[in-house]
Amino acid sequence: MKNINEIRQDFPVVKNLIYFDHAAVAPLHNQSKIILNEYLNYFLNFGIKDYSIWAEKIETIRSKFAEFIGADSCELAFIKNTSAGLSVLANGIKYNNGDNVIIPDIEFPSNVYPWMNLDRFGVKTKFLKTKEGIVDLNEMESLIDNKTRVVSVSWVEFSNGFRNDMAAISKLCKKKSQEYGRKIYFCVDAIQGLGALKLDLKETEIDFLAADGHKWFLALEGAGILYCNKKILKDVHPTFVGWKSVKNPLNFTDIHFDLQESAAKFEEGSMNVAGILSLGASLDLFNDYGIDNIEKRVLGLTKYAADLLQSKNIEIISVLEEKHRSGILTFKTKDIDKDYLKLLANRVQLSKRGDALRISPHFYNTEEEIEKFAGLIF
Ligand SMILES: Cc1ncc(COP(=O)(O)O)c(C=O)c1O
Repeated sequence: MKNINEIRQDFPVVKNLIYFDHAAVAPLHNQSKIILNEYLNYFLNFGIKDYSIWAEKIETIRSKFAEFIGADSCELAFIKNTSAGLSVLANGIKYNNGDNVIIPDIEFPSNVYPWMNLDRFGVKTKFLKTKEGIVDLNEMESLIDNKTRVVSVSWVEFSNGFRNDMAAISKLCKKKSQEYGRKIYFCVDAIQGLGALKLDLKETEIDFLAADGHKWFLALEGAGILYCNKKILKDVHPTFVGWKSVKNPLNFTDIHFDLQESAAKFEEGSMNVAGILSLGASLDLFNDYGIDNIEKRVLGLTKYAADLLQSKNIEIISVLEEKHRSGILTFKTKDIDKDYLKLLANRVQLSKRGDALRISPHFYNTEEEIEKFAGLIF
């Protein structure tokens, strides 16, 4: 296993910026560059010849991804982004007129509009009202009724970094499914957690998950993963279909509309091979350092930043309770616009969300970088 100084050599960005913006879009690392160069050179020189080399690499990445989150390969599909992934579930299951979907009122639009888009079928989106950025499970329980079809939440909320208690929500959905004698699907927008925090789907049962790779997963934009629990694969009909959705996809002239049984039925056509290769490069990096160690470092860095900011009497917006913390730390200074510009001018890459500032360091960042950043705020 490489130490952090060695790992930092794989991130050219550290020479230019204190990069605390992984909750927005991440920089790439050298392992991605190596495989992307290989892909580029191959296609420059050989095009489609022996294309199976790349198809095999994609399948290897699918297996590694499955192992990484405690899933089976047959439950994973590569997708173009989180919004598209969540739309697969939203548009793929059956509803009755009057059904509802529950989401917290602080969700990123990717986990809002796919549900509101069902309004035309008589499916209502019910918003769980949060107080001080907390998704309260008693509130959630009181909203679930005999018409609820889906509960969909972000693993980590984008604005304040509140980490939802996935195990507890999973239990609640099961309990309510039993009580009402109907399946209530538990769906997760995982983009703000995957790559920074540990997820084991064998321990925490969820029905459906989607995430693009361009944030904590440190990969290219436009390639991500969808997980569909094998117990519900049959319930989710693919809205988009094409040559790859069927059992014998290379039988171009023999038309049989016989859908694949695995989540690959959601991969309707040609894929973003470059994007998937960069996901694979990140998986290798994460496996090398260990996701437990990564989570520990990420949470350690945000805790360190919170302590430093609090020692300067700066208001922290994020919930600091251990089980709800994540890689995102949001805070308010006396003059947000001025501090934001000052930090950017001093090469600290961060985001402004609403009337607060947001930092999101990854495992290759350091305590010294946190100190430099905090030293720029009065
Ligand atoms: C919680 C959450 N979901 C989704 C996205 C992005 O969605 P997509 O992958 O469709 O671009 C973001 C980006 O900020 C986000 O914070």
